Amino acid sequence: KNILFVASECVPFIKTGGLADVVGSLPKYINKEEFDVRVMLPKYMALSESHKAQMKYLTHFYMDLAWRNQYVGVFQLDYDGITFYFIDNEYYFAGPTPYGNIYEDVEKFAFFSKASLSVLGLVGFKPDIIHCHDWQTGLLPVYLKDRFIEGDFYKEIKTVFTIHNLKFQGVWDVKTVKDITGLSEYYFTPDKLEAYGDANYLKGGIVYSDFITTVSNSYSDEIKMPFYGEGLDGLINARSNALEGIVNGIDYEEYNPETDEMISKNYNLNNFRKEKIKNKRMLQQELGLEINDKVFMIGIVSRLTDQKGFDLIDYCIEEICAKDVQLVILGTGEEKYENLFRHYQWKYPERVSANIFYSNERAHKIYAACDAFLMPSLFEPCGLSQLISLRYGTVPIVRETGGLKDTVQPYNEFEGTGTGFSFQNYNAHEMLSTINYAKKVFFSKKREWNKIIDRGMAKDFSWNNSAKKYEELYKNL
Ligand code: GLC
Repeated sequence: KNILFVASECVPFIKTGGLADVVGSLPKYINKEEFDVRVMLPKYMALSESHKAQMKYLTHFYMDLAWRNQYVGVFQLDYDGITFYFIDNEYYFAGPTPYGNIYEDVEKFAFFSKASLSVLGLVGFKPDIIHCHDWQTGLLPVYLKDRFIEGDFYKEIKTVFTIHNLKFQGVWDVKTVKDITGLSEYYFTPDKLEAYGDANYLKGGIVYSDFITTVSNSYSDEIKMPFYGEGLDGLINARSNALEGIVNGIDYEEYNPETDEMISKNYNLNNFRKEKIKNKRMLQQELGLEINDKVFMIGIVSRLTDQKGFDLIDYCIEEICAKDVQLVILGTGEEKYENLFRHYQWKYPERVSANIFYSNERAHKIYAACDAFLMPSLFEPCGLSQLISLRYGTVPIVRETGGLKDTVQPYNEFEGTGTGFSFQNYNAHEMLSTINYAKKVFFSKKREWNKIIDRGMAKDFSWNNSAKKYEELYKNL
């Protein structure tokens, strides 16, 4: 079967979040004998010059988007065994980042979704299934439906829609969206694209896809309830017979402490007790922290947003940054959190390192160096950082929600089980006491701590299992 992924970001070309990691790694792990998986992406000007230089121009044409007539260029790049198509239009994709203001984005991704369908006849690849990701591709199943009238080519194509994050929905007023998309009045009712008086792209994807997945089991249950449902829980319930949670994997080639070239000292399950610590020393030196094996080093690699639980950290950061702790943060996001960490680095330069930018290399070093990884998310569709942490023997401390709940088993000191530490309620003091409990085990029961690492590193969060689930789904559609 032919499968076409359509998405707004993909590693190694362009990334703002975990979506890019999934779109960039999953296709590699789908069985090539049975499936030809290709990926369709926007040709952002922000892509690297070297990637752009490697692309091959295929063709171009003009496409109607409502009353507009827009240029659509198509490029191809074969990379790491996968064929990628890039949709070119410099008017839409000129920005320095994939997303700008929402007003521009709704038109940009209406264009991208429609163009992705329109090029299919020209590139010589007819998908049996189009696999869409997040709101940016929400209109694709809608346009596909709309085209049934036009011809047989599109009739047999099925769609899968994966929700990586229900919070982002692509919402704008109905009048404008009608004008942008050229979709008729018929689509803008509450049983279709309309939600709470506005047009909602994600809703379009959920209503019109043949099958819907989310990126963990718990999240697929949670979004049926108002607290996590972001206003769409009713619809999610209505479609629950065509909904499945498939937990993400991570790329085990990129994230492998044994071969990782970005970290100071490689290690594995057998020798981490001796070798992992060398990464801690090197990072302390690199970041100008006190060089001390004994401190409890906590890492955070994250978008600095409310979703990730930073208001809990804000609430008790003074207590977290105790004398025997080092805190290393990497990421950008809301200014109040960026400044919070900058302030604490200023206040405790020996203990806190605020890296308010993104660097893949620095991320790898943090995963390798730290003793624990903190991720107290308010909600978490899957989360990849805790999976990377487990692989690197860095003990995750998480809130029990979504994918965090499904992938981190809480330590049980009586049974000697568990791969991390977790707490249930979204409450700063519950988080703090969980951090303190982890510290206690780290400082006073080192053997127990190392066994937690042992169990975590032995887990398999490669794509092996989950790719099979997607294959099953493709087969059964
Ligand atoms: C989004 C979610 C995150 C998930 C990722 C990839 O970024 O917030 O939980 O891991 O998508 O699916």
